Amino acid sequence: MNHFLDIHSTPADELHKIIAQAGAMKQARLGRPKGALDDAQPLAGHMVALIFEKPSTRTRVSFDVGVRQMGGQTMVLSGKDMQLGHGETIADTARVLSRYVDLIMIRTFDETVLTEMAEYATVPVINGLTDRTHPCQIMADILTYEEHRGSIKGKKVVWAGDGNNVCASFLHAAGQFGFDLTFTGPAQLDPEDEFVGLARQQGSTITIERDPVKAVQGADLIVADTWVSMHDSQSSKERRHNMLRSYQVNDALMAHAKPDALFMHCLPAHREEEVTSSVMDGPQSVIFDEAENRLHAQKAVMRWCLGV
Ligand code: CP
Ligand code: NVA
Repeated sequence: MNHFLDIHSTPADELHKIIAQAGAMKQARLGRPKGALDDAQPLAGHMVALIFEKPSTRTRVSFDVGVRQMGGQTMVLSGKDMQLGHGETIADTARVLSRYVDLIMIRTFDETVLTEMAEYATVPVINGLTDRTHPCQIMADILTYEEHRGSIKGKKVVWAGDGNNVCASFLHAAGQFGFDLTFTGPAQLDPEDEFVGLARQQGSTITIERDPVKAVQGADLIVADTWVSMHDSQSSKERRHNMLRSYQVNDALMAHAKPDALFMHCLPAHREEEVTSSVMDGPQSVIFDEAENRLHAQKAVMRWCLGV
């Protein structure tokens, strides 16, 4: 049984196979209506629970559509409406759900909810974002990069802003896919040492550069994310904005990267905050391909989890 909990805990060769399968499945249904079934129906007879303890647009819709295209069925559950939110343990919830469904995707706050779910579930569990990581997003991002520019191996990725959960999964991916990553942001919001250390152990060059203009020199890909994540308190908003303002990705900053550098953002974005509309809607931006590729990447992740 394969859980998909994090990029670093999934073998690199398996990650590459998942990306390749995602690309092939995407090609195979080009031009079809979104609700049309795939030719192969690997999830026929499978029931998938999608649990959300935080808001979601992309993750919720892409998982739901992906399961249906592959012939499976879904139930979307809100954590607060489940007994999970009213004192039932995660372990008991995991044991019970495993009697009804074949696969569980969960978006939650504390990473221990995910790991406990995986420990006690007897079906595969997928990480749909925690406070610390967001691996499904980065699978879609790798697929997107490689569709536009070929292999990401050896490329320079620059993360601008908060060293948050999405940044952490990019660092995991740096080690597994063999690219280098420069973080540019204020010291208070550096990514955790654990993520940086792991990527370095795997041979990636991870650089911390406070000056955003220096950071983006030679960049193949620039990535931004919200300055205030769902797990951050709203009272920290003004402080965060003050710290992060000089790391906004705008046309002037993009001009210092390679001319063919791409721009990515997992979305939802706050236009004119972490990134300007001119960059989001400009020729280097691939943000909506990223959003689409959540669907294709996760379909391949689910097949890998279920071995189908
Ligand atoms: N990028 C992403 O995970 O978006 P949602 O929060 O809308 O799912
Ligand atoms: N860092 C953001 C990502 C949203 C998809 C958050 O956790 O809110």
